[in-house]
Amino acid sequence: MGLSRSEVWNALLLHKQEIETLHMREMFQDGGNRFEQFSLQWGELMLDYSKNRITSRTMELLLDLARSVELEKRRDEMFDGAPINRTENRAVLHTALRRPPGYSLVVDGLDLSTEIADVLVQMKDCCERVISGSWKGYTGKRMTDVVNIGIGGSDLGPCMVTEALRPFAHGHLQVHFVSNIDGTHISETLKKLNPETTLFIIASKTFTTQETLTNAMSARAWFLTHAVERSHIAKHFVAVSTNRSKVVEFGIDDANMFRFWDWVGGRYSLWSSIGLSIALFLGFDRFQELLNGACAMDEHFRQSPLEGNIPILLALLGVWYNNFFDVSSHAVIPYDQYLHRFPAYLQQLDMESNGKRVDLAGNMVEYATGPVIWGEPGTNSQHAFFQLLHQSPNFIPADFIVPLKTQNPIGEHHDILLANCFAQTEALMRGKNEQEVRQELDAAGCDDSEMNMLLPHKVFPGNRPTNTILLKELNPYSLGALIAMYEHKVFVQGIIWGVNSFDQWGVELGKQLAKAIFPEIQGSETISCHDSSTNALINAYRDFKVS
Ligand code: F6P
Repeated sequence: MGLSRSEVWNALLLHKQEIETLHMREMFQDGGNRFEQFSLQWGELMLDYSKNRITSRTMELLLDLARSVELEKRRDEMFDGAPINRTENRAVLHTALRRPPGYSLVVDGLDLSTEIADVLVQMKDCCERVISGSWKGYTGKRMTDVVNIGIGGSDLGPCMVTEALRPFAHGHLQVHFVSNIDGTHISETLKKLNPETTLFIIASKTFTTQETLTNAMSARAWFLTHAVERSHIAKHFVAVSTNRSKVVEFGIDDANMFRFWDWVGGRYSLWSSIGLSIALFLGFDRFQELLNGACAMDEHFRQSPLEGNIPILLALLGVWYNNFFDVSSHAVIPYDQYLHRFPAYLQQLDMESNGKRVDLAGNMVEYATGPVIWGEPGTNSQHAFFQLLHQSPNFIPADFIVPLKTQNPIGEHHDILLANCFAQTEALMRGKNEQEVRQELDAAGCDDSEMNMLLPHKVFPGNRPTNTILLKELNPYSLGALIAMYEHKVFVQGIIWGVNSFDQWGVELGKQLAKAIFPEIQGSETISCHDSSTNALINAYRDFKVS
């Protein structure tokens, strides 16, 4: 029987009708301490989910929903290495990458822990040589800059983490990220670099991604115009990939390849050697702290009962709005400038994982799956799109991520930042009703006609849900835990919706068509084999090129 026809689903539909008209303002007023009831402290991370349109009955039903899909069993299958990515017949074991040494995980007769440990040793050795300066370039100079060339999961995770943890960098190296095929990205990056002191990391799981290989070839051509000798490439190019033959074919020394495995999904790969740029920027020990933080969250996710399990609660709240309030969007607002790439990172994690329309058996799902994830740091976002969060006809749930400690304690900045953050979640929850607006306008001396004109514009409906995630400090450990928390949230939602969160066939069609259009753009014939729109666009560009 389909999920949306199950007993618990129907119970949730009925329950939604019952509580739809309840306002969170009243819920906070009606006895009991809502915060105590709907918040969790886990180490130095606190989740406040009290500003949600929920009662204890809602949570009971949502937890029943989780049980009805055998969530715990499915979770254990992932950790144990079952081939849960069925369309690619692969295990999903990014969690194995962050387990402490000394465990054993045998999958298909292979002890993964040994394989993982070997690559970590290789990464550590590389970090030590580059950081100490014993890794020399072709003119004998030490490396000053690292350029990670990759896209999607081979870019977004490392880029986000290095930005987020900038205060923890050793300062010995600058890191740069080139992802876009737009020649501007690599050109503008190369302008800042000295080929004698630059190390390129070509990061691609498949080593077939057009954008990455094109950027890598441009980087190599730029390097060779200065270094001339091809043998110098070995000192300036390393690769991170699962595809040894393609790496060697590209001309990168076998010894300079850092491997990972097909059981690590691209968007889950920052914990693997894809994190080499992170380790180089922060030093290997801090990369290890990132892994440790993620591992601690894995243990929380594995062992905590459902009702005290942070990723599970976040996932269920998301399902509540997505499927029962028809809300297809979810905002993520970090109140920390260092987390400015976090929403972009989460977009791939969440939307590439759960943006699916068929279930594991290939049947069309009868309910919404992954929401649109978006966001920007506070307070910039307040002056951009919060108007819509406060007063649009429908609501958009939001996560507020807030480190209590600032890395830059200047004057009153941090107090003002946090005052804004807490004010926004309060405003979104409370709103401002007609009576309050009337009083305000009265006090300002408005006459009746002005009052009636302004009133509807100044009312805030409130009742808009937020989660607040407080971290004592944003550091390698807490960031590792935060990322793992979202990974598991996405996993839980994928299990509830019955989709495969670990494939991404939806990105293939565009790639295939681009391959067909590319020679057409370069050819001399007028194109007529597509629809009239696509023909016209291709021909407009071809005409422009010859004009
Ligand atoms: O966007 C599709 C995708 O396959 C992502 O899943 C992946 O992270 C990205 O391309 C890059 O792939 P690769 O690491 O193989 O170059």
